[in-house]
Amino acid sequence: MRLEFPNGFLWGASTAAHQVEGGTRNNWSEWERSPARLAQLERDGSIAQHGRGNYISGVACDHYHRYREDFALARQLGHNATRISVEWSRVEPDEGKFDAAAIAHYRDVIAAIRTNGMEPFVTLWHWTVPLWFRDKREFERRGNVRYFVRFAERIVSELPDVKFLITLNEPAVYASGHYLRGEKPPQKRDPFLTLAVYENLIRAHRAVYRAIKTARPEAQVGIAKNQIYYEARSGRAWNRFLKRVADWAWNFYFLDHIKDAQDFIGLNHYFHNRIDGWFGKNEDARLSDMGWELYPEAIHHALVGLKKYTVPVYVTENGLADARDAQREWFLRETLANVHRAIRDGGVDVRGYLHWSLMDNFEWQHGFWPRFGLIEVDYATQGRKPRPSARVYKKICEENGLESGQA
Ligand code: BGC
Repeated sequence: MRLEFPNGFLWGASTAAHQVEGGTRNNWSEWERSPARLAQLERDGSIAQHGRGNYISGVACDHYHRYREDFALARQLGHNATRISVEWSRVEPDEGKFDAAAIAHYRDVIAAIRTNGMEPFVTLWHWTVPLWFRDKREFERRGNVRYFVRFAERIVSELPDVKFLITLNEPAVYASGHYLRGEKPPQKRDPFLTLAVYENLIRAHRAVYRAIKTARPEAQVGIAKNQIYYEARSGRAWNRFLKRVADWAWNFYFLDHIKDAQDFIGLNHYFHNRIDGWFGKNEDARLSDMGWELYPEAIHHALVGLKKYTVPVYVTENGLADARDAQREWFLRETLANVHRAIRDGGVDVRGYLHWSLMDNFEWQHGFWPRFGLIEVDYATQGRKPRPSARVYKKICEENGLESGQA
């Protein structure tokens, strides 16, 4: 049957500055090249497997210089929206000193997005920070929140025609990945610090929300929140209890604390977690190149879970690493059928879908090998080539709907 999306639905894809721009100098670029990090990759065999260059963002996709052609390509692929992030370390490379050329650059970027008929979603912080902010210990300290607020106020005033502003990308993934599991800089493993960072990110969001709404009441401000679908198996009370705890801690704690300070929710969604005695009992019928379970139905549950906040939802990330493009078409179709079901049957006010990612990019601690792009990037030549699934997605975007086997 034919699944039509609501009028004005936004279709497109997402990126983040550090992963695509190239030439950044921030906490990540320094960490990637640090002797301790490289020694660790040497020890665990990663360099032998993927090469040293895989782990260094370097010029990445050179999107900093090629954004015009990249957005023109996005337009040709039927997109009417796109999500980017502003790199704080470019805009404020030294504490309190804003770089006029970097600000002008982002103005040009927004102009190029608009010229190509797309609505920009701009993320103010997608995990990377300037070196001076790193040296102040980032969001570990409550007193540091004000630096982020100052940057946010400045950049928002410099980009007056951006309607959709995302304050923070995935605070829970950041706090846990950087401070609990120690996988990313500053590689700490400290539950107390993790909680402190999480609380400070709540404060940061609330303060930035207030500041933006005071300056520009018409702006739409939200976060990009990573939601996991926790599924309690077999109706056992214990499984249901674990689900409640996980939902509270991972999915809803942050949102509950900002519910009076958001105009929309950006849903970033990748994971499904079956609970049967403990977490993570997945059947793993289909996997991405990274071994992540592909379970398109999960997004329906993630969306329905957001209904209680009574604000519009935009899917701001969803996708898979699939170098051969063997599963992306299937995954997109099934996912979109489930988004549609959340709108039609679940009554969720979903207004857009942005796929992760517009193009292959630097997948953080894993480096360049995972291929998330609708567009394939040849890193040797910086050539761009839309994958076959990007053409399928184009048709969906242009027709604002799809044929689906699902009722
Ligand atoms: C992040 C992206 C990342 C993607 C795929 C999200 O958690 O926001 O930066 O590349 O997932 O792992």
